Amino acid sequence: MSKNPNSEFIVIKAIEDGVNVIGLTRGSDTRFHHSEKLDKGEVMIAQFTEHTSAVKVRGRAIIQTSHGEIESEPKK
Ligand code: TRP
Repeated sequence: MSKNPNSEFIVIKAIEDGVNVIGLTRGSDTRFHHSEKLDKGEVMIAQFTEHTSAVKVRGRAIIQTSHGEIESEPKK
């Protein structure tokens, strides 16, 4: 596993239409800077960068990271 956080990739696979992958800014001002909409079966591969410190996933998706795999689910 790499020590450089910017070389880490995360993989998000939508398991329903309309999943949103939202990038949040790095630094003292934490806000949304990018929202990507994925339809069922679509995959996004993303890194943490100078500009992106956190990612929020909205909708049902499988998320793989170096820490493992997790499934996001909509609120009941
Ligand atoms: N321009 C953004 C950046 O370099 C693109 C990006 C990278 C991004 N990782 C992301 C957008 C994760 C959304 C989610 O930081």
